[in-house]
Amino acid sequence: MAHSFKLLTFVLLLFLVALPGCGPAGEEKAFVIGFSQCTEGDAWRKAMHEEMEREASFYPELSLQIKDGKNSSVTQIKHIREFIDQGVDLLIVSPNEAEPITPVVEEAFSKGIPVIVVDRKTSSSMYTAYVGANNYQIGKLAGEYVAKLLNGKGRIIEVWGLRGSSPAIERHNSFVDAIAAYPDIEIVAEVSGEWEKEVAKERFPAVFNQQKDVDLIFAHNDVMALGAYESLQNRSVQQQLKFIGFDGLGGPNGGLQFVQDGILDATFLYPTGGEEIIQLAHDILHNKPFKKDNILNTTVIDDRNVHIMKQQSDKILAQEKNIERQQQKLYEQIQLFNNQRTLSYVLLASLVVSIIMGAVALLSLSAKKEANKELLAKNNEVMQQRNEVALMARKADKATEAKLRFFTNVSHEFRTPLTLILGPVEDALHSPVSADLKKDMQLVKQNAIRLLRLVNQLMDFSKVDNRKMKLQAAEADLVAFVKDITNSFDRLARKRNISFRFRTKLHELPVFFDADKLDKILFNLLSNAFKFTSDGGTIAVGLQVEDRYEKVIITVEDNGKGMSPAHAAHAFDRFHTGEDSSNLGTGLGLALSEEFVKLHHGDISVVSEEWKGTKFIISLPLGKEHLTEDELLTDAGKNAIELIPGVMDAEQQVVSSESAEVVEDARLKEHTILLIEDNKELREFLKSRLAKDFNVAEAPNGTVGLQQAFEKVPDLVICDVMLPKQNGLEITAALKNDLRTSHIPVILLTAKDTVEYKIEGIQSGADLYVTKPFSYLYLFERVKGLLKNRALLKEHYSSEISVETKVASPPKQLDKKFMNEVMAVVEKNLSNPDLNANSIAASLGMSKVQVYRKMKALLGYSVNDYVNNMRLKRARHLLLHSDKNISEIAYEVGFSSPAYFSTAFKNHFEMSPSDFKTTRSSREGSNVTM
Ligand code: FRU
Repeated sequence: MAHSFKLLTFVLLLFLVALPGCGPAGEEKAFVIGFSQCTEGDAWRKAMHEEMEREASFYPELSLQIKDGKNSSVTQIKHIREFIDQGVDLLIVSPNEAEPITPVVEEAFSKGIPVIVVDRKTSSSMYTAYVGANNYQIGKLAGEYVAKLLNGKGRIIEVWGLRGSSPAIERHNSFVDAIAAYPDIEIVAEVSGEWEKEVAKERFPAVFNQQKDVDLIFAHNDVMALGAYESLQNRSVQQQLKFIGFDGLGGPNGGLQFVQDGILDATFLYPTGGEEIIQLAHDILHNKPFKKDNILNTTVIDDRNVHIMKQQSDKILAQEKNIERQQQKLYEQIQLFNNQRTLSYVLLASLVVSIIMGAVALLSLSAKKEANKELLAKNNEVMQQRNEVALMARKADKATEAKLRFFTNVSHEFRTPLTLILGPVEDALHSPVSADLKKDMQLVKQNAIRLLRLVNQLMDFSKVDNRKMKLQAAEADLVAFVKDITNSFDRLARKRNISFRFRTKLHELPVFFDADKLDKILFNLLSNAFKFTSDGGTIAVGLQVEDRYEKVIITVEDNGKGMSPAHAAHAFDRFHTGEDSSNLGTGLGLALSEEFVKLHHGDISVVSEEWKGTKFIISLPLGKEHLTEDELLTDAGKNAIELIPGVMDAEQQVVSSESAEVVEDARLKEHTILLIEDNKELREFLKSRLAKDFNVAEAPNGTVGLQQAFEKVPDLVICDVMLPKQNGLEITAALKNDLRTSHIPVILLTAKDTVEYKIEGIQSGADLYVTKPFSYLYLFERVKGLLKNRALLKEHYSSEISVETKVASPPKQLDKKFMNEVMAVVEKNLSNPDLNANSIAASLGMSKVQVYRKMKALLGYSVNDYVNNMRLKRARHLLLHSDKNISEIAYEVGFSSPAYFSTAFKNHFEMSPSDFKTTRSSREGSNVTM
């Protein structure tokens, strides 16, 4: 676009520059003509100028500049010099006086300026051309005319023009020459009129008065003759005298008029020659041939021809005026033409500009369209690419999700069978079997655990790869944590006679770490150390702080077989198993450990020497500045970790369960456990085990499970998380949000072992989260623990002084609500002897069985017992604090007869109401006397 504007401006400028050249004036060169006029003050010269200007107007290339010398030779010299300096193309001079003006005219001429001398002459021939009448000839004509007029006799007064000017001199000389032949004609006196009427008029009378019998006044021009004539005004002599002049100018103030009016007797035509002067100048300037001396014609005008001359002159004047008018019109037309021409040029220019602009606009429009088209195509391409990328990303996401789901499912599929393997194996290990079978079972157990670890590692890798693995750090004592883990290897060390130590100078070190991941790292390093260290070898775990408490270093060192430098260099590579095929592992453990250390923003390295040993060094930053908000565990997460023993590694679970005591409790059979598990084998395995100690109800899915829970109101629910349709979390939430079942403890069984899943489990209201595979003994212990907790809770509700009751876990909000409602119904209807489980269930909107089971679960006794207790408690209160008699109190607390009340009271308080009242009175009495 900028380019188009530049082009446009250029075209416009070109056009404007070309414009003046189109006019006719532009075809010829302009010439400046300087005219130094001796005077402008008289009609003759005015007529000359008019002629010149009129003629010059026919030649547009000529520019005429006139300077008035005002009868001063000095001024005229100055003007001529100015014209020279100005560099005029041609100089016209009518010299005031011949002598003084000659040098400057010569100067101009010698400088190459063409000089035209008009009317009056210089004293030199250094000029280009001359225009004017022959003054000598005209003077002679006058002399001869006067001689005739005076008949050869007369007295003459001569009125001179400027004495230094050539016409004056020449006219005088030739006149004198002409009258010389007439001795009776005499010039008696001279007056210096200096070509001016007023000068002559002023000077003439004095000269005239000194003369007698003057016949004729011979003046060098008509205006001086008129001046002399007028000076004799009111004198009779004026009419008697004859007056002769020169010029014969037309018009009202010219010599022709004076002759016609009888003032002058004759005048001699002396043409101004304005027209001729300009024509000559034109020829010279255009290098045309010209004559040097251009003599104008003269004639005598007197009463014989003045009429015709006057007529002709008037006509000429009128024609000249006409010409001038026409010229003026022409000039106006030319102006109009010029204006219109300029306007048409402007219009043409605008048209051209508009066309160019239109073309430019069209061009740019089509360019823009083209660009838009391209842009649109590009845009579409980009959009398509974006859609493809989005589609690919969605596919990748789906693939990732599918992969994760696959790993989760595979893991789940592995874990359930592993539980089923480990359960009977553990049973076998605890039963009196042969040493060989025990050894075999031990082998089965170890391999099942190994398989489990592999499944776990694969799961973790899948999460690391899909960036689903997040650090969940919380502050904990690292010393105690490492000690706990090392402790679990003590037994193995003892068994293999390995010197196994945990060395640290620290008693405690609070560190932000992810317990689950660090557990896996250390467990992996220690497993490796035990794997590659021979019996009787040494393994040491160290912990120390470095860099002024900036980081903590954990080392695991053994004196086992060590690694070759090449092996050590790739120790953390995934699937790298070293050269030794006898010790092929999956190559996942160390790679995973490195990933977990990196998640902690730490470092892990290895130093190893073949047959000398290996040392792994983990460095973790202290403080929590290096952790993002996202990497810190929330409070809910912390609780989940504290509450869930399932976080423990399977091996530890098995190890700890080995020492677990099986406590036979006869009372357990009282409890009903509902087992919701879709895996038939696991369900049957668990049922067979649990049935030894509890009543077991079972359900293959969530829907049946929930139905049974509401119907039977069991004492505890064990539920798998991954169930078809309704999952374990939803079932838990449904149970916990229902008044009928909210009190029932729920244990969730799952293969999902991430903290997030555990948090979800806890949020749904589950009391415990057990990760598959689990030891049955461990599960059994937990079931017992929860039932015991429930018993403590019963005490809380049934106790008279609830604040002092030991509460294992706080009562659930919904259970509190239930108890409050029961209490309110009972208290309100206490005096009604028909108050029983039925009427209470009806006012609570529950079935009699549900109320019965819930009351029993929460309080440990029936609704009727509860109502009875409340009646007796109120009765005791009234006996203590009112003056009512026993039968009044009996009816008030809802007993149908005072006798039944007394029996019930005595059974409960081991004292009859009347005895109780008497004891109270004596207690009060002694209080008074004291
Ligand atoms: C005008 C004039 C004429 C005369 C001429 C002589 O200025 O005086 O009257 O003929 O000059 O140069």
